[in-house]
Amino acid sequence: MNPVIKRRAFLAASALLAASTRFPALAASKVAASEEHEQRVRDLIAQMSLAEKLGQMTQLAGGRQKALNSRIDDAALDRVRQGRVGSYLHVAGAEPLARLQCIAVEESRLGIPLLFAMDVVHGYRTIMPVPLGMAASFDPEMARRAARVAAVEASVSGLHWTFAPMIDIARDARWGRVVEGAGEDPYLGSRMAEAQILGFQTDDLASKDVLLACAKHFGAYGAADGGRDYDRADISNETLHEVYLPPFQAAIAAGVGSFMTAFNELNGVPTTGNADLVRSLLRDQWGYQGLVVSDWNAILELVAHGAASDPVEAAALALRAGVDMDMTSETYADHLEKALAADHTLLPLVDEAVSRILHAKARLGLFDDPFRFGDAEREKLVLGSQEHRAVAREAATCSIVLLRNEGNALPLRSDARIALVGALADDASSTIGSWRARGQMDESITLRAALESRTVTYAPGVSPRDPGTSGIAAAVEAARNADVVLLVMGEDFDHSGEARSRSDIGLPGPQKRLVDAIRATGKPIVAILMNGRPLALEEVLDGIPAVLETWFLGNESGPAIADVLFGEVSPAGRLPMGMPRSTGQVPQYYAHPPTGRPANPDLSKDSARYHDAAIGPLFPFGHGLSYAEFRYSDLSVVPQGKGGSLAWKIAATVTNTSARDADEVVQLYIRAPVAGLARPVKELRGFARLAIRSGGARRVTFTLDPEHFAVWRGGWQILPGSVEIMVGASSEDIRLRGRLENPEAREVGPGEIAGAARLTTVTVA
Ligand code: BGC
Repeated sequence: MNPVIKRRAFLAASALLAASTRFPALAASKVAASEEHEQRVRDLIAQMSLAEKLGQMTQLAGGRQKALNSRIDDAALDRVRQGRVGSYLHVAGAEPLARLQCIAVEESRLGIPLLFAMDVVHGYRTIMPVPLGMAASFDPEMARRAARVAAVEASVSGLHWTFAPMIDIARDARWGRVVEGAGEDPYLGSRMAEAQILGFQTDDLASKDVLLACAKHFGAYGAADGGRDYDRADISNETLHEVYLPPFQAAIAAGVGSFMTAFNELNGVPTTGNADLVRSLLRDQWGYQGLVVSDWNAILELVAHGAASDPVEAAALALRAGVDMDMTSETYADHLEKALAADHTLLPLVDEAVSRILHAKARLGLFDDPFRFGDAEREKLVLGSQEHRAVAREAATCSIVLLRNEGNALPLRSDARIALVGALADDASSTIGSWRARGQMDESITLRAALESRTVTYAPGVSPRDPGTSGIAAAVEAARNADVVLLVMGEDFDHSGEARSRSDIGLPGPQKRLVDAIRATGKPIVAILMNGRPLALEEVLDGIPAVLETWFLGNESGPAIADVLFGEVSPAGRLPMGMPRSTGQVPQYYAHPPTGRPANPDLSKDSARYHDAAIGPLFPFGHGLSYAEFRYSDLSVVPQGKGGSLAWKIAATVTNTSARDADEVVQLYIRAPVAGLARPVKELRGFARLAIRSGGARRVTFTLDPEHFAVWRGGWQILPGSVEIMVGASSEDIRLRGRLENPEAREVGPGEIAGAARLTTVTVA
């Protein structure tokens, strides 16, 4: 919208609203203080009809994921005029959203602004690595900066709210949505959750270039049985609290403005109708005050779950559970009135829900200026700017993981004659992954494009989606004439994501045949993996000396991979999920208890292992190599203070003994053998990505306190005993070991943060 029209629309809206004294501070440029918000929200609720309240509790789809705004027709606009909608999702664009907002604030009775939402997951126009890739950076600051770019772009396009970050822990790589999260570990997941929330929201939701973030999908969507999307999660309370919930608690500590319930059920109760989870735990015990939205259609799906007998019961169940806003099912809009007539105790819950929704709008400053977010002029300058592309390039480079590098096959010599093989090498669509917001595939630089200036012959060979194998012969020919083959393999972007669970996580399509044919040429091969989940590739990668994991890296995919291939940058990403050897091994994760018969390579019987497979993953959690070499030394574990302020400073020195400057990801694991309990063999409790110059050394110090060792037994308990300290370069590459004695036994209060949600202070000298 041009600024004059925008201003006119705003003034008209201001006049209308100010005249009715509904928004006393409307003209003030500063966002109202919270008491003013409170008053404003109370006044509004007092004036609202039931239909208007249910309207606020209704979020409608203004379009589909790929056809944004497509459903904003005359009927939709009428509904806005009637005050029967509180929020739209799958809408975008400064101009169309200003027009829509104008109708809400000028033409509806109470003039309440709409909330505009979208899944801005890993970029809006400038596309960053998919979240699983971003987590591989082990660099929360980088994740924060990437989310910041997304918020700056989406907010200038008129959006207020993103359904991100997805912070579901995932230990089963068959689940398609592993691509959207930070992998298997609750500590890494917690750090990535808070980093993204800070990036989206900053510490000031009243700024103009922020997005309200959404912690989703509460509470154990990632534990779906068999990795089948939407399926039940049947897990112990210990696992729930120690593994699946920590990122959600970390999200609250980071100030997240909204939560989304999950599609699935947890131990028999669908989370969207789960009062124990949402009302008791999230709100009463954790003290979360923000907005809770259902997932898409999930309120109505309470009927399909069998938890409600009809939509009226479903509406009542979700409201009682504490779900404020109904995403798209219109169950609140159509059926809550009947439920209220039958049960008056529900009425105050409606006011509570409306109040939380209006508060979210007030926190974003929408009552002060409903048009403060979109700016059509700036939109042209900001979306996909050079500055944003530079961040995308850095993020992509940081996320690459060097899985294998026998005989220093990488980096490549700059004059090497290269055969670039595999359709993914030139698949711009896959570079931007799923949840691509307004990302454009023609703005992505593929690996093929990035290598154009070098001596390269490209042969697609086969594609992961297409059964055809006729391209194999040309690929073999290209390989024969080259010094080295860059063999790009993996998944199409649409093999992972929502509803993309796979029963076999090997290479899809005819890619294995291509690999075998290229291997038969005897040429040196560098495997470049592109995928949205860990794949089971033991056999495929057998004998291939160099393997790079590159996920779906976003618009700057090609240049980032090229930088690593030619040694411009030393890779330092780490696996946020272990890579299994075979599909039959999943779920697998490093933080498992030892069992009474620990896995033993010398025993094919009577040991906790598959007798037909090697023990452990092909590449473990936290694994990632470097072109540099690092020495770990001088571990010290020093207690400080006592009683309530007891802590330990755990320090180690990391020296870059190679001739290259490089980053190293130092990881701190603990094991707390606690009397009477079988605890995981290792649990991550700290990490730091350090830039260390050739020959240089850095000393990293982690501060742990007893809350970090707490275990869940019906509540968080700190038990006394000896805690093993392990510092290393991966969950299986432990370089230094120490011990500390925790003298204290006590219970941790419900509001306190314990276990993996608890932030470890890290200082680097
Ligand atoms: C997904 C959510 C998403 C929502 C809106 C659902 O299908 O599960 O993660 O935020 O759609 O697009």
